[in-house]
Amino acid sequence: MQASDFHLVVMWLVLLQAAASCQSPANISSMLAPQADRVMALGEWEERWQEERTGFHQPHVHKMLENNIDKVLAGRTGVRFFFPLCGKAVDMKWLADMGHSVVGVEISEKAIKQFFEENNLTYSEEPAPAIPGAKVYKSSEKNISLYQCDLYNFSSSIEGQFGAIWDRGSLVAINPRDREKYTALIISLMAKDCRYLLDTLLYNPELYKGPPFFVPDEQVHSLFGNSCDIELVHSVDALTDRQRGWGLDYLTENVHLITLKSS
Ligand SMILES: C[S@@+](CC[C@H](N)C(=O)[O-])C[C@H]1O[C@@H](n2cnc3c(N)ncnc32)[C@H](O)[C@@H]1O
Ligand SMILES: *[C@@H]1O[C@H](CO)[C@@H](O)[C@H](O)[C@H]1NC(C)=O
Ligand SMILES: *[C@@H]1O[C@H](CO)[C@@H](O)[C@H](O)[C@H]1NC(C)=O
Ligand SMILES: *[C@@H]1O[C@H](CO)[C@@H](O)[C@H](O)[C@H]1NC(C)=O
Ligand SMILES: *[C@@H]1O[C@H](CO)[C@@H](O)[C@H](O)[C@H]1NC(C)=O
Repeated sequence: MQASDFHLVVMWLVLLQAAASCQSPANISSMLAPQADRVMALGEWEERWQEERTGFHQPHVHKMLENNIDKVLAGRTGVRFFFPLCGKAVDMKWLADMGHSVVGVEISEKAIKQFFEENNLTYSEEPAPAIPGAKVYKSSEKNISLYQCDLYNFSSSIEGQFGAIWDRGSLVAINPRDREKYTALIISLMAKDCRYLLDTLLYNPELYKGPPFFVPDEQVHSLFGNSCDIELVHSVDALTDRQRGWGLDYLTENVHLITLKSS
């Protein structure tokens, strides 16, 4: 091989490597394109509760919360938990029984009432002073307060900041176009020592329109990475007949532990 040929080969190799490294960062907007414009109105969620189309509800404590509870608590007792889009998750009762306190936000009044009734908890119902049109339902025996309102009407001026957040069926349920607004709200609700457990789903968004929506890890990092440290604590195959029925061929459930930087 002549010296000039050798140079050509080297140049080619350099170019090929450069091209490969240009392609490797994931193009998040193209990954999200199939669901980007999907919108669920609040009324549609309330309708689902009225019609009992609530297949997302689980009658038992969520395995991913149970499996990671030590990482969330990190030795703390009496932790204040926030449940965005809480539905009637029995996880709230489980945590309150362990002496933690729980604040949830949910648009469906039916879901909130069912939560207390199905868990044999008596409760009070009153207007939430700082949120026009909203009500707050409080357990008489346990530290559980559920706000019936749009999540985006809630803020740290209502109940302060929280020591832990359990986000299941929440980031994946809000409209994809609202993710930046949602992230800003969640970060504003995190106390310095907050440990935020986030459950996301990976699947082929060409096959199912959601909700739950597809939230790739790359987007978890682009949303929270500036302010937070993010650790992937669990990744499991979560495909069951329910999601096969939606047309999915794979479903991965990822659980992230998110903490504020420099905490
Ligand atoms: C997929 S479900 C998950 C419920 C619960 N986290 C669970 O895991 O069982 C989403 C819930 O959020 C409620 N919801 C949806 N958008 C909301 C909003 N913007 N503000 C308050 N609640 C909302 C719905 O009524 C529904 O109960
Ligand atoms: C990402 O994909 C979108 C849509 O497919 C395209 O318009 C955009 O130019 C791509 N961006 C990059 C940086 O490749
Ligand atoms: C609530 O009470 C009913 C009737 O006593 C009982 O059957 C049910 O198991 C209780 N539920 C819970 C969650 O404790
Ligand atoms: C509720 O929480 C407060 C303070 O966080 C605590 O003093 C109180 O004992 C708790 N109540 C119950 C019933 O756990
Ligand atoms: C939430 O805020 C909007 C305006 O931002 C308002 O129209 C709505 O009534 C508020 N209340 C509830 C309960 O969502």
